[in-house]
Amino acid sequence: MFSDLELPGKVYPNYQSGKWIQKEGADLIEIRSPLDGSLVGKVTAMCKDDVDEAMDIAKRAQPRWRDVPIHRRAEILHRAASILTENAREMVEVLLYEIGKDRKSGLSEVLRTADYIRFAADSAKNMPGESIPSESFPGFTKSKISLVTREPLGVVLAISPFNYPVNLSASKIAPALVAGNTVVFKPATQGAISALHLVKAFEMAGLPAGVLNTVTGYGQDIGDYTVTHEKLDFINFTGSTQVGKRIAGLVKMKPMLMELGGKDPAIVLEDANLPLAVSNIVSGAYSYSGQRCTAVKRVLVVDCVADHLADMLREKVAALKAGNPAADDEVTIVPLIDEHAADTVMSLVEEAKDKGAKLLLGGKREKNLVHPVLMDHVTTQMKLAWEEPFGPVLPIIRIRDAQEAIEIANRSEYGLQSCIFTQNIDQAFSIASRLEVGTVQVNGKTERGPDHFPFLGVKSSGIGVQGIRYSIEAMTRPKAIVINISPHL
Ligand code: NAP
Ligand code: G3P
Repeated sequence: MFSDLELPGKVYPNYQSGKWIQKEGADLIEIRSPLDGSLVGKVTAMCKDDVDEAMDIAKRAQPRWRDVPIHRRAEILHRAASILTENAREMVEVLLYEIGKDRKSGLSEVLRTADYIRFAADSAKNMPGESIPSESFPGFTKSKISLVTREPLGVVLAISPFNYPVNLSASKIAPALVAGNTVVFKPATQGAISALHLVKAFEMAGLPAGVLNTVTGYGQDIGDYTVTHEKLDFINFTGSTQVGKRIAGLVKMKPMLMELGGKDPAIVLEDANLPLAVSNIVSGAYSYSGQRCTAVKRVLVVDCVADHLADMLREKVAALKAGNPAADDEVTIVPLIDEHAADTVMSLVEEAKDKGAKLLLGGKREKNLVHPVLMDHVTTQMKLAWEEPFGPVLPIIRIRDAQEAIEIANRSEYGLQSCIFTQNIDQAFSIASRLEVGTVQVNGKTERGPDHFPFLGVKSSGIGVQGIRYSIEAMTRPKAIVINISPHL
C-alpha cells in the first residue's frame, strides 16, 4: 500500500501541507543499506528555506487542529495505527534494509508502534482537567473556583534517532498530535525512509493538511537552524548525548524533552539467580547488536560469583548468530549502522585489551559487522567502563560488594537505567533507592517498554520524562479559568 511513496529514481519526497513534495533539482542524500551498501533510496537534503516553510505551515495549521474535538483526533490516530499494522510486513523490509534491523525486531517495532499510537489516543481522551475550590486554602471562602484544562503548546519539533525510526518517531508525533499540537518532524537521515512510511500512514489516516510536516536532511547541516527556529514551541529529541547537549546549549526559553545516551549497568549480587541474570544480560546487551540506548552496557558482578557468571555469559554469547539478517532470520548480531560505529566499538575493545582486560569472546570484524565481544576484568581505568559503544560489546567489571557497585554505577555521566539481580528484595530496594538513574529494573534487563511506563534519563541521559501519559503532559500545559463568585446572601 505504501509502494506509491517511492518516486522514480528511488526518491522519497517530503510531506508538507498535506502534500508529498519533491523540488526539482534539490540536492539528494543517498541512503545505503548497512547490510550490503545497496541503495535503499534518496531523500532531500532540505535547506533553511524548507525549514521555514514547514514551520510556517505548522504554525498556521495549529489553531484549527487544536479546535478539532479530541475524539476526532484520536480517531485519526487509531486509523493510522490500523494502517501501520496492515502494512507491517512492508515496513519490516524497509527497516531491514535501511537500518539493518532483523525482521523479528522490525515487526516488533512496527506492531509496538501501532499499540503506542492507540494507547496515546485513548490516554489523551481520558486526561480531563480539574476544578479547584478556593475554600480549601486558608483565608479563602467559596469565592473562587479554578477550572483547569490542558492546552497544547503549539508547534512541536520531533527529532528521532536511527535505531527506532518508526517507534521513536511515533512516540513523539502521536502524543503531540492527539494533544492538539502540530508537528515538524526531522527524522534521522539513516532511517528517514522508514520514518516517511510512518508519516504516510498518518496521511492515509486522514490527518488534515499542515498538521504533520517533514524535513529531511543532515542534522549537522540544518539542525542548529531548526532547533532555534522562532516558530517552535517545544523540542522532542532522542539521540546522542553529544547532540542533545549541543541543542540544549543553543535553545533559549523553549521547553524540551530529551532522551539521550546511556551506560546501563547490570549489577549481579552473590545470591542472584544466575541463569535468569545471564539470559537477561545477553538479551539486553546484544539485541540489535547493542544499538539501543537502554542496552546493558556493563556488568558489575561481585567477585564470589564472577567466574561462574563469566563462564555462563561466554557460553550464551557464543551461541549468538552474527551475519546478514536479510539472508537468515536466525541472525541477531547484525551489521552496525555504519563503519564509523564499528570503528568506535573496536577502538574501545583494543584500548581495554591494551590495559589488561581479558577478551573472553569476539574481536572478529568484517567491515561494519562486529561479532559479539565479551571482556572480563575490565577496570575503571579503561574507556570501555565509561563510554557508550552502541555496539555488541559487554565489559565485565568485578566488584567487592553492593556498595562498590553503587559507587561505580553512579560515577558514570549517564543515568538512564540500571538492573539488579538478587533474590533479596530488601537489598534490591535499598540499592535501587541509591542509584542515580531514571529506572531500576529488578531481576530483569534494562528496557524502555512497556511504553506507558515513565521513561527518563538523568544526568547526561536526558531531560524530562517520556512514556505515553508523561509525553502528552510534557507537550501540553494547564490553562486555568478562575470564576469569581460574588456573595449574594
Ligand atoms: P544522533 O547522531 O545524536 O542523531 C539523533 C538525531 O539528531 C538524528 O535525527 C540526527 O540527524 C539529529 N541531529 C544530528 N545533529 C543535530 C543537530 N546539530 N541539531 C539537531 N539535530 C541533529 O543519534 P543516533 O546516532 O541517531 O542515535 C544513537 C544515539 O542516540 C546513541 O547515543 C543512543 O544512546 C541515543 N539514543 C537514545 C535513546 C533514548 O531513548 N534515550 C534512544 C535511541 C538512541 P542525522 O541523522 O541527519 O544526523
Ligand atoms: O534506544 C532505543 C530506546 O528507546 C530503547 O528502547 O524498547 O529497546 O528498551 P527499548
